[in-house]
Amino acid sequence: MKKELLQKFEEVFGSEGEYQVYFAPGRVNLIGEHTDYNGGHVFPCALTIGTYAVARKRNDDKLRFYSLNFKGLGVIESTIVNPEYKKEDDWTNYPKGVIWAMQKKGYPVNAGMDVLYFGNIPNASGLSSSASLEVLTGFILRNLFSLKVTNTELALIGQYSENNFNGVNCGIMDQFAVAMGKKNNAIFLDTADLSYEYAPLDLGDAKIVIMNTNKKRGLGDSKYNERRSECESALRDLQKVLPVTALGELTEEQFEEYQSAIIDPIQRKRAKHAVYENQRTIKAVEALKKNDLTLFGKLMIASHVSLQYDYEVTGIELDTIVEAALRQEGVIGARMTGAGFGGCAVSIVKEAAVDNFIKNVSKEYSDKIGYLAAFYVVEVGDGPVIL
Ligand code: GLA
Repeated sequence: MKKELLQKFEEVFGSEGEYQVYFAPGRVNLIGEHTDYNGGHVFPCALTIGTYAVARKRNDDKLRFYSLNFKGLGVIESTIVNPEYKKEDDWTNYPKGVIWAMQKKGYPVNAGMDVLYFGNIPNASGLSSSASLEVLTGFILRNLFSLKVTNTELALIGQYSENNFNGVNCGIMDQFAVAMGKKNNAIFLDTADLSYEYAPLDLGDAKIVIMNTNKKRGLGDSKYNERRSECESALRDLQKVLPVTALGELTEEQFEEYQSAIIDPIQRKRAKHAVYENQRTIKAVEALKKNDLTLFGKLMIASHVSLQYDYEVTGIELDTIVEAALRQEGVIGARMTGAGFGGCAVSIVKEAAVDNFIKNVSKEYSDKIGYLAAFYVVEVGDGPVIL
């Protein structure tokens, strides 16, 4: 891979000067969905699939970006002086946004670059191809400009650029999981204060199988921002009767006692999901620590049901694939992962049953939906690295 990427880079940008190969992972969230912008817990892990780049610093202000995933777009050029969002700059608005965010935070990113990217995360699948691209770009900048930035800051800068440059009001989970990934561990992150703990993912004879519905979704055109404001509204109602600053602070009992303060019934359902999902995430991590995979799986299933009926972010494709998964032998748990509305679901399946699982779910899915799903048996990997 490294050799091929270097070769491509030389073909596109020439071989003068110094350049290196970088990698940042994608992520899958095991449980704790739509909790990160509600001050709750999440439990994602980094994957060994992700985004690669070859990058070189230039002596002028030019930014030249090329992606092997979008060859047809050719080299997209811009400048490091006052980067601005431009529709025609397409995917390069992500790396440009990170440069903009770094500059805005006062880091001296003051020379151009040539960067070639290649990602093996399926696009718009909910496995964080954009967070991977953002954190990777920040990591490259840190290296090329010798910046004193921690990995947590790289995550925050990525999120800041996505919120303020690319206009998606995402939480911190994706960028944090990408920047802080650790091989064979999931990250139990409290988004209220960014305290976190690594939890060894000891799945015994089971594997993580990601099921891609192949129903594309983009956060921008989804109802993501709408869900976020529904939760904020529900919180404002609750604050009239309870001194809380985020839905993630509530226990299930408190929610039951005070839920009638939320006037709008839809917003009440959204808040219920946020509160219960946060508690489920805490319980799931405890279960994993006790090696109780059965309970972990049950909590995953409960998470999906809540996302389906209370949060309403699943849809026919995700529901079909999860329901088919849960009918199979050897399945421990399954649920949608990421923002929802399409994209991927994640399941934990006994290794010996994986082949049949994929065969059967694949058939049930395409019979009902009319096109094929894709399946990935994934490994849990580290955060960004220079290769
Ligand atoms: C997307 C966002 C995350 C998080 C999830 C839902 O992946 O980028 O911040 O809100 O959706 O859990």
